[in-house]
Parts: sequence; structure tokens; C-alpha cells
Amino acid sequence: MTDLFERLRGTARVLAERTGCERHDVCVVLGSGLGGYPDRIADKAAVPYRDLPGFPIPTAVGHAGTAYSAQMGDNRVLLLSGRAHAYEGHDPGAITFAVRTAVTAGCRAVVLTNAAGACGEGMAAGDLAVIADHVNLAGISALAGPNDERIGPRFTDMTDVYTPELRAKAHAAAARLGQTLREGVYFWFHGPMFETPAEIRLAQALGGSMVGMSTVPEATAARHMGAQVLGISLCTNLAAGISDLPLSHNEVIEAAAAAAERFSALFDELLPTL
Ligand code: HPA
Repeated sequence: MTDLFERLRGTARVLAERTGCERHDVCVVLGSGLGGYPDRIADKAAVPYRDLPGFPIPTAVGHAGTAYSAQMGDNRVLLLSGRAHAYEGHDPGAITFAVRTAVTAGCRAVVLTNAAGACGEGMAAGDLAVIADHVNLAGISALAGPNDERIGPRFTDMTDVYTPELRAKAHAAAARLGQTLREGVYFWFHGPMFETPAEIRLAQALGGSMVGMSTVPEATAARHMGAQVLGISLCTNLAAGISDLPLSHNEVIEAAAAAAERFSALFDELLPTL
């Protein structure tokens, strides 16, 4: 099999041909329930993941599996509706392939969105929160295995995974809209089971504000390749044990749909400025 570097270049080429865009500037991964955002954009090219060699076909509800290319301000934006998760059985190479392709296609910034459980002080369902940092509790590294120096260094600095300038731009965009945008540390759990209340107490004791089943591998791969990263969580529910209610995926999808308008307004304001 051809090596990862060549496969990324090959898929980036297909993306360029199918979208008619030689380069993209910003990549946005749309998390659970947020995949409808591209519907708001009239002028865009769409490429199904199945036409992009190496892109995994997502199985999770609310993850369509389509890449969209659109002009937003000065930025050519690649919107990825649908992502692969570790809990679906995908290995890190598959989970990170789409984001790695986007960076290969020129993206200097990667925006990762997700649905998450809220466990931070004072946080509530419906909150949007910028990811300040993360803790990897999934027991998986996106960078394990042989390293190709053409893609990135063997040892990646994780000091500022979530680029301070992009976080500031997100807060500025929210402030212009009069939106409340929180910020906190995201804890990655493997899933697909939701966390136990004891796991949530662990996350809280270690300073966690959001818990979820994605984002960390893509953020790590993007940093490995030198791209800037912004992470935004939509808190769809209070994390396990905080309220008396049991958790369900339907609740996640419904809460994401309820917040979609606010999320979309933030993106309309933010994406052209990145
Ligand atoms: N835990 C993990 N992932 C999630 C949650 C949660 O409570 N809500 C939405 N995604």
C-alpha cells in the first residue's frame, strides 16, 4: 500500500478536482447534530466521502459523510459533515484521515466542533464552549506507529493545541453577536457508552468542563502537521450523574438541533475571520 503521505496527497488532489479549488484555507469538522450547517450556504461544491479515497464512512446518526467547499470572506472553507469515531471501531489513522487531507489541501486552521456533556461549574445544556485544552482518557494516541517526517515531527508539542489567537477570535465573534461563549477543558472518553457518574466526578476533580467522544485525535493530528486548531463544544446535556435524568443519544441530537441556529450564527460571524 502507498504510504500515508502519498495517500493524503492523492486524496487532496481528488478534493481539488471535485471542488474546483486548488487550495482550501480553513477546515471545519461538524459534530453531532451540526452537520446541517452547509445547508445555509447557497454557493458550494459537495463531494460525498465515498468519492474521497481513505475517508471513512461515518455510521453515527447525524453524521452524513459529505465534504463541502465554500467561500466565506477571504477564506475557502472545507466543511466536513460527518466524522469517524473510535467508538465505531475506526483506528486513529482512519479517524484523522479527513483532517490530515484538509491540511494537505492547504488548510492552515482546523475548526473542530462536537456535542459534549457539560460538567463544569455553572455549565448547562445548550451552552457553547471553546476548548481551552484537553485530557485524553481514551487510551488511544493519534500519533502512535511509524512517523513520517514529511507529515510532522515524531514528538509533537501539545502546549497550545487550541491556538490562543483562534480562541480569541471565537470570543470576539460571540461578543459581537451578544452570545455567551464559555471556555473549558475537554475530556475525551472512548465511548460509545456515556460516562459513569464516577468518571464525571474524576473529570470534574481534574478541572474538566466538557466530556465527549471525539475531537482529540483530530486536534492532535492537525497539530502534528502544524495547523492551528480551534475547538468548540455544544453542550447538549449535563454529564452523567449531575442531574437525575438518564442520558440518551436522542437527547443529544434534539439539543443540538435546538442550538443549531445559535451555532450557525456564530459560524457565519467567525469563519470569514479565521
Ligand atoms: N458524554 C460524552 N459524549 C457526549 C455527551 C456526554 O454526556 N453528550 C454528547 N456527547
